[in-house]
Amino acid sequence: MLNQEVAILLNEQINKELYSAYLYLDIANYYSDQGLAGFENWFYVQMQEEFAHAMLFRKYLLNLEQIVKLTSIDAPTKQYKDFKEPLLDTLEHEKFVTASINNIYDKAYQSKDFQTMQFLDWFVKEQGEEEKNSNDLIKKYDLFGSDSKGLYMLDNELSTRIFTAPSLVI
Ligand code: FEO
Repeated sequence: MLNQEVAILLNEQINKELYSAYLYLDIANYYSDQGLAGFENWFYVQMQEEFAHAMLFRKYLLNLEQIVKLTSIDAPTKQYKDFKEPLLDTLEHEKFVTASINNIYDKAYQSKDFQTMQFLDWFVKEQGEEEKNSNDLIKKYDLFGSDSKGLYMLDNELSTRIFTAPSLVI
């Protein structure tokens, strides 16, 4: 039987992942509006990944006979002042998600919920990768983004990112 505090946090994580998808779709829309189709693509793929994460939490709860309760998703409202700001916001948001996953892990550990800890192991690793990806993108932007030719090349590179379904199978 899943600890109820852990179950509630896992259910809340669905909303956080869906909000992440919503946020990255909003950023994709921003870059599309700015004519940067590669950046748009990178964030569109990121949106797909976040939706997939939400579905993994959903499936995990359903497999354990838990009620999944969907709650409203906040609208992203930010107006970006330059091309770099969404990249910085993305890193900050990923740190927030990492902290949220770590908090669930901690509660699962305290209640000796080894099954949930094992499930979350994949997300702990994934968050490390997501933070690194966000950091790498900021570094690349700092190196190449201030020059129009460099920005064009970076945008082309980001246009090649494709969505691959999470390796975690539940
Ligand atoms: Fe699903 Fe980017 O955290």
